Amino acid sequence: MIYPTKNDLISSNRKDIHIDLAKSKISRPHIEHPLDLISLPHNALPEMDFNDIDTSCSFLDKKLSFPFMITGMTGGTERGDNLNLAFAEVANQSGVALGLGSQRSSIAHGKSQNKIRKIAPNIPLIGNIGGVQLAQENGLDLAKAAVDDLEADALAIHLNPLQELIQIEGERNWCGVLNAIENAVKMLPCPILVKEVGAGISLPVAQKLQNVGVRYIDVACLAGTSWARIEAERLPRKQRDLYAPFLDWGCLITDILPKMRQSLENITIIGSGGLRDGLDLAKLLWLGCHLGGGASIILNSLETKRMEIRQEQLFNSLETIKEQLSIALFLTGMKLSDLIKNKLVKP
Ligand SMILES: Cc1cc2nc3c(=O)[nH]c(=O)nc-3n(C[C@H](O)[C@H](O)[C@H](O)COP(=O)(O)O)c2cc1C
Repeated sequence: MIYPTKNDLISSNRKDIHIDLAKSKISRPHIEHPLDLISLPHNALPEMDFNDIDTSCSFLDKKLSFPFMITGMTGGTERGDNLNLAFAEVANQSGVALGLGSQRSSIAHGKSQNKIRKIAPNIPLIGNIGGVQLAQENGLDLAKAAVDDLEADALAIHLNPLQELIQIEGERNWCGVLNAIENAVKMLPCPILVKEVGAGISLPVAQKLQNVGVRYIDVACLAGTSWARIEAERLPRKQRDLYAPFLDWGCLITDILPKMRQSLENITIIGSGGLRDGLDLAKLLWLGCHLGGGASIILNSLETKRMEIRQEQLFNSLETIKEQLSIALFLTGMKLSDLIKNKLVKP
């Protein structure tokens, strides 16, 4: 049985504040976007018919219309649950994978999110809990409950030490997380996907995860949503100054993806952190990942500034990303599988 802690009570309210902050300007790191430094090789002789381009692929034994995942954001509050239902409907229609935000709070309050599975029967659904929570007493029960409730195809374990350190109510004891992940890999009925939330997973950490049996990693690097900046915004001024040097701390995706592809043979890598469009997705695939992922771009497409939900707008944004990926494939003269293979050669 998972009981709500004091932190769970605070965290429901915090989730909605996070959504607003994530949509605001302060949520971006103050660095040049690393993918702006990458250009794909132009091919003036593509030797293909644009209309024959196939972007479909498979992920977690299900078919996707293009290699993309909406990464976990929300759940547990009325607004969060409504967003998830809308994400689910559009993701199922568009044929992309969908991750949920942390399920800890809903499970602790006895609230089911299973409606999402009913709305999205055809796509991979990925549950979510924190690495620190997994390592705590009853962590494995929480993980099992998260998988059962969602009938999940995989469970994401998020690693967010930078965010937790800056967060007012954050968890500071990170001992035993790797062991807990190893145990979850053995005990859960579905694969474990380990993810960061915007500071990135470095090659040495990915190697440790591979050694304990993890087969899916979402790198979530520095360039997009900055949880350091979001949490710092919630702090009193004096404390904010303490963390000021760390606000843009993290790994760059352009540094880590090529190395990961060379060293991690058995891992499916999701490339994410600041994905802006289908050209970014093509660059990520070329650099070394199998799937791209995005959170804030999706949230901003779905929910207007006045908090109205626009499913059609999100559907169109996803279609645009897919179309832009096709354009990149045409202009490089590569099939999707070639683009992914070429990552071993370049850059
Ligand atoms: C509003 C919001 C809430 C999020 N909540 C979670 C969460 O509960 N669990 C998690 O693993 N990641 C969470 N994330 C992180 C995203 O899954 C993603 O890794 C991160 O935002 C980087 O992607 P982006 O730059 O495309 O936004 C959240 C992101 C946003 C924008």
